[in-house]
Amino acid sequence: MLKLENVKKTYDGKDILKDINLEIGNGEIVSILGPSGCGKTTLLNLILGITEIDSGKICFDGTDITEVPMEKRGFNIVFQDYALFPNLNVYQNITYGLRNKPDISTKEEVEDLISLLGLEEHLEKKVEQLSGGQKQRVALARTMVMKPKILLLDEPLSALDGVIKESIKDRIKTIAKEYHLTTIIVTHDPEEALTLSDRVMILNEGGISQFAKPEEIIQNPKNNFIKKFILNQLEIKRNNIYALFQSELKEQVS
Ligand SMILES: Nc1ncnc2c1ncn2[C@@H]1O[C@H](COP(=O)(O)OP(=O)(O)O)[C@@H](O)[C@H]1O
Ligand SMILES: [Mg+2]
Repeated sequence: MLKLENVKKTYDGKDILKDINLEIGNGEIVSILGPSGCGKTTLLNLILGITEIDSGKICFDGTDITEVPMEKRGFNIVFQDYALFPNLNVYQNITYGLRNKPDISTKEEVEDLISLLGLEEHLEKKVEQLSGGQKQRVALARTMVMKPKILLLDEPLSALDGVIKESIKDRIKTIAKEYHLTTIIVTHDPEEALTLSDRVMILNEGGISQFAKPEEIIQNPKNNFIKKFILNQLEIKRNNIYALFQSELKEQVS
């Protein structure tokens, strides 16, 4: 279990994260949802260990890891921009982390991941030849071969659209469940968070507004911010889909 106790982070005298307390169970998929600039990436980086906390405590499976450096925590992140190596092909990108630690995954385990992510036909390709969805899958595979204890994803769907988005969503879910992997996903899109995760953590003004199952948030939004931010956005999306449907109908009739 991952546990954060009274975690605080200030940048330039401004409280970014005020007093974060949370628990995430092993194998759980959790989304961190909130508007742009609310501190989602900062929170992810604190958990990863790339950024130090100002005060508070981070524990994993009963051990205090607050002072444990990033590389020893055994968590791993897929960055928002994928951060793939352009001069290496897909296979070399996926296995990059194994060069110095070849014992972490066997050849079969790497092959299983490649097939789970549908990358078999792309292994020889250079990064520039890939679509956004394919790049995202390579980034996921590259992280997964290192067998992270927690998988962190920063806006994994934001650069993708429509059908591709749905397919990556399914793959993330499949991987998390197949490997019983604690997965924390940052997103600013309520629909993504509500459809992807076991629980959703809503971050606003440096604190946790609500941390609950998707159905509970929809049925019982805890405050006005959540009502506005979540439910309005969902409503806008629904109206857009409805408008699109209407205009298509019109076209068919005329
Ligand atoms: N390294 C940094 N130095 C100074 N300010 C930062 C740094 N990283 C983030 N911030 C500030 O912290 C706030 C939260 O940023 P971030 O965590 O990236 O938000 P989000 O991911 O929710 O969009 C922003 O106001 C941002 O400018
Ligand atoms: Mg961010």
